[in-house]
Order: sequence, then structure tokens, then C-alpha cells
Amino acid sequence: GLAAGAAVGAAGGFGVARASAGPTAGPAATPDPGATGVGAHRTYAFTGAHQAGIVTPAQDRLYLATFDVTTDDRDRLVDLLRRWTVMAARLTQGLPAGSLGPSSGPYDAPPDDTGEAADLPAAGLTLTFGFGRSLFVGTPGADGSPGVDRFGLAARLPAALVELPHFPGDDLDPARSDGDLVVQACADDPQVAVHAVRNLARAAFGTATLRWAQLGYGRTSSTSTSQRTPRNLFGFKDGTSNVKAEETEALDEHVWVPASAADEDAAAGTDSAWMTGGSYLVARRIRMTIETWDRSSLREQEAVVGRTKGEGAPLSGGTEFTEPDLAATGADDAPLVPADSHVRLAHPTMHGGARMLRRGYNFTDGNDGLGRLDAGLFFLAFVTDPRTHFIPVQSALATRDALREYLLHTGSGLFAVPPGVPSVPTGADGTPT
Ligand code: HEM
Repeated sequence: GLAAGAAVGAAGGFGVARASAGPTAGPAATPDPGATGVGAHRTYAFTGAHQAGIVTPAQDRLYLATFDVTTDDRDRLVDLLRRWTVMAARLTQGLPAGSLGPSSGPYDAPPDDTGEAADLPAAGLTLTFGFGRSLFVGTPGADGSPGVDRFGLAARLPAALVELPHFPGDDLDPARSDGDLVVQACADDPQVAVHAVRNLARAAFGTATLRWAQLGYGRTSSTSTSQRTPRNLFGFKDGTSNVKAEETEALDEHVWVPASAADEDAAAGTDSAWMTGGSYLVARRIRMTIETWDRSSLREQEAVVGRTKGEGAPLSGGTEFTEPDLAATGADDAPLVPADSHVRLAHPTMHGGARMLRRGYNFTDGNDGLGRLDAGLFFLAFVTDPRTHFIPVQSALATRDALREYLLHTGSGLFAVPPGVPSVPTGADGTPT
């Protein structure tokens, strides 16, 4: 059933799972102990306690897609998730999704794999799966009528998988929001990421259809201390204070769902034990009015963020990794890190210590017909509970953050990302089948 295999799970032995083979040189010749192979030939194990693609050092490219399930047949949904599991186990190891053609399959039928990644290495591909609230309880009607629980899953809905509130300034496009299922594909080669999602979408024919998708580039977060901090389209370092893979205690506190969450849900009559060890993925497509930003002074830009543009140091002083001193004041008694700056309003001390693992990407989707780029930050964050770790932060930012003058949230999604699968069934040759 859905819960037993954490929905993307399937039973059996897995011959391809690669245990960490000790430190290997990553693309920047920095150790990446989670990877097998080097550079473009890097692969990450699909199986494990947690899904890959969360603490995995952020790859350069993203293709994220959400799907609407188009059947009411629970067995077909389960079958799709099982097939996706096997395909993902193959694709992430650099194997085709299935047979590529005449030598291994029939000539009078389409090949199982579409072929455009046939000669490409895995490029660090990870595939991360999650479920939207609508999968469990349907979508409420515009008139307030309740949604339909098509698959008998309402009793499995974790309390944390809420409907996100409307935040001030939201301009959400329903065609860029929500979805029953989500697939986050990350790789250093966009062709590899798109190929993976395309083949998963193809396998879903008749069961689920693509709802929306987002291509991203130039990761805007570092999720490991082995990575240099990248920059977002405002030109600022992004990810300095991020939760990093090496901070195992912080991951347990702020990213992974603890067993106690299921205990609380059980007391309310809901079985969410399937989410223990998982995480919640918040996705926000945030358009940035970069033309306006580019006309503002450096002083204004730094005051808005609360950090220097070059070094990324807090305006209270120090270097990039110096903690901001929110109490420090200047000559005029004004705080050095301004009261309405992004870094102050997002800071954990303002939100009961809550942190998040940000894993966003830049996007540029053409222009808007008024000579402005449709560009911005596709914000992705993994949190232990969006009610404590995202909603309060975004509420503060949406009402007081100086950055909000330059931002427009145009898409949104919240997804329950179950823990990893321990194993995937394999065929005689040891590959997942
Ligand atoms: C920090 C940019 C949206 C939460 C930062 C930093 C920058 C930045 C430059 C400082 C460096 C760092 O620690 O990473 C942006 C831009 C955004 C955006 C350009 C939109 C286009 C958001 C949103 C949230 C958020 C929507 C959450 C609701 C945070 C947090 C920090 C941070 C938690 C770390 C604060 C700390 O611990 O010091 N952001 N951000 N950001 N941002 Fe954002």
C-alpha cells in the first residue's frame, strides 16, 4: 500500500545500491563522500534512509515537475509509483529508464527510453518524490465545497501538510501551483534532468499528467560546506547561513520529520508514520523585478539584504560566515542590520530558532512583453514542519521585508517528501527492473 512502501517504495533486493566509497574528488576537487565517481560520472545512491536530492550537494541544474493524478483507481496509482521507483533507481545510476531499442527490445514498438541521454553520464542526477495535499483530500471547490478523497488516503494526511495561507503580495498562478505529485530532478546537465522527468511523465500516461514544471540554473544555495556560496540574480551570495549536510543535529531538528510528529497525528486519529524520516518541500516561484533592482544604489541593495554585496558579510561587521549581530547599532543608534532587512527578518532568532534547508535555483523564462525579464528565484526549502519552519518566516517577510518591493510570488507548492526506500528489486544482471 501507499504507506507501507512510503509510496515510492517497492520491495526486494537491490544490487546496484552503492554504499559510500569514501571520499572521492567532486567537480571542484572537494570531497563529496555521498557520491560514487567523479565529475560528470558522479552518481548518488537512490536508496537510503532519506531520499537523495535534499542534503546532496546542490547540483547546478533543476527540473521540477508536478503531476495531477487523472485516475480514481488506487491500484493504478500504486503501480505508477512502483514503476517510477524502478525507473528512478536506474536513471540516477546513469542507466536508461528501460530498453533503448532493437538490440534489447521490439522493433515495432516505441523504445522504453526516449534516448536523448543515451550517451550522457549521470551528471549527479537525483530524483526526489513527494505528495501534495490534494492527493489525500482532493482540491476544495472555489465555492468552499470540500475536495474528494479519491484514494481513501484522508486518514493518512499528516497535519503538517497544510494548505499554505495566502501571504500579502502573493500573485499566484494556479497553473504554476500545487499538484498531486512532485518530482524534483537535479543534475549538473539540464538534458539529463529533463530526460528523467520526460521519461517519468511518459510512464505516467493514462494515470497522471504534467501540471506544471520549472527549469532552474545556477543553484542559489550551497547545501554542503564543500561548496562555495553561489549568487542569486540580485548578485548576492545566497546560502551562507543555510543548514548544511554536515550539520547532522540541525538536520534532525529542522529538516527531517521526527517520529514524535506521527505520535501527535496518531493522537488525532491520523496515521502519518510513513513520513518519519521524510521532509516537507516548499516551492515558491518568486519573480524578481531585476530592472528596478539594477537601478537602486549599492547602499540601498545592501541595506535591503542586510549583508554586503561583495563579501556577503553581515552589515554588523566581520566576514561572510560571521553571525549577524542584530543588536549592534551605529552612530545614529540605528541597527547596523536594518530593521526591515531580509537577513534580520528571516533570522532564526526571530522565529523561535527555526531554520530551513534552502535549495533554490535561478530561473529566466523569457520576457513579459514589456521589455522585462521574467526571471527570479525558484525558492525550494526542505523543512521538518512548514507550520513552524516556513509559514511564520514567510509571513514576516511578506509584510515587513524591504526585499518584498522587488519580489512577486507567482507560483507555490507544498509537498510531503517521504523517507528513502531501503531497496529496489533487481533483475538477473543486478540492475533495477
Ligand atoms: C538568507 C536572498 C527569499 C529565507 C538570504 C540571504 C540572501 C537571500 C542574499 C543571505 C545569505 C544567506 O544566508 O543565504 C533571497 C532572495 C529571495 C529570498 C533574493 C527571493 C527572491 C526567501 C524566502 C525565504 C527566505 C521566501 C523564506 C520564507 C531565508 C533565510 C535566510 C535567508 C531563512 C537565512 C537567514 C539567516 O540564518 O541568517 N536570503 N531570499 N528567503 N533567506 Fe532569503
